[in-house]
Amino acid sequence: MTLREQREIETDVYQPAEDSQLLAEAACARLPADEDQLVLEVGTGSGYVAGRIAAETPVRVIASDLNPHAVREARGEGVETVRADLVAPFADGTFDAVAFNPPYLPTDPENEWDDWMEHALSGGEDGRAVIDPFLENVGRVLAPDGVVYLLVSSLTGVDEVVERAGEEGFSAVAVADESFPFETLTVLKLFR
Ligand SMILES: C[S@@+](CC[C@H](N)C(=O)[O-])C[C@H]1O[C@@H](n2cnc3c(N)ncnc32)[C@H](O)[C@@H]1O
Repeated sequence: MTLREQREIETDVYQPAEDSQLLAEAACARLPADEDQLVLEVGTGSGYVAGRIAAETPVRVIASDLNPHAVREARGEGVETVRADLVAPFADGTFDAVAFNPPYLPTDPENEWDDWMEHALSGGEDGRAVIDPFLENVGRVLAPDGVVYLLVSSLTGVDEVVERAGEEGFSAVAVADESFPFETLTVLKLFR
């Protein structure tokens, strides 16, 4: 990797944080010990969550991200990663589970900044600008008994996300949470 590529990764790729850890732990603890299972991590960033799933479970993991620098970093970590907008390129009914730690911070449009880190952090005005289209589309790529592990924050509105998921035919249960001074992070398991 060139120095320029290394600098782009450091400034343009979301590095693992408490939300990444909570999602990785929740998913690893619940994925079946079955090497035939196929799991997608959407928005993989550094590849941390997908890498932990690959290391701690027998399932096969594929990852996606819109950010080309993230795709490069995740591939460098050994994660099979494709550049994609959410689940767009994947075939119907493909995945037994999909995990996503989305951009979820509500952001005043006046304060939006136009770079890859904004794509990693900003969920638009209500925090759900990426979560809503994800919920609309993820059902298409799930196998009939497939499940979703979705990280959400109290800043994003957990009830609103659960309601939106319900409109797409999903039931939701909170399987992990962690509280911080300014927010509580929750991992929702969505199933049909
Ligand atoms: C909060 S970061 C999470 C990164 C990593 N999964 C983790 O937990 O450390 C959100 C990630 O979603 C990616 N992302 C944002 N919009 C996306 C989209 N429409 N399709 C695919 N990935 C997207 C960002 O580039 C970023 O890597």
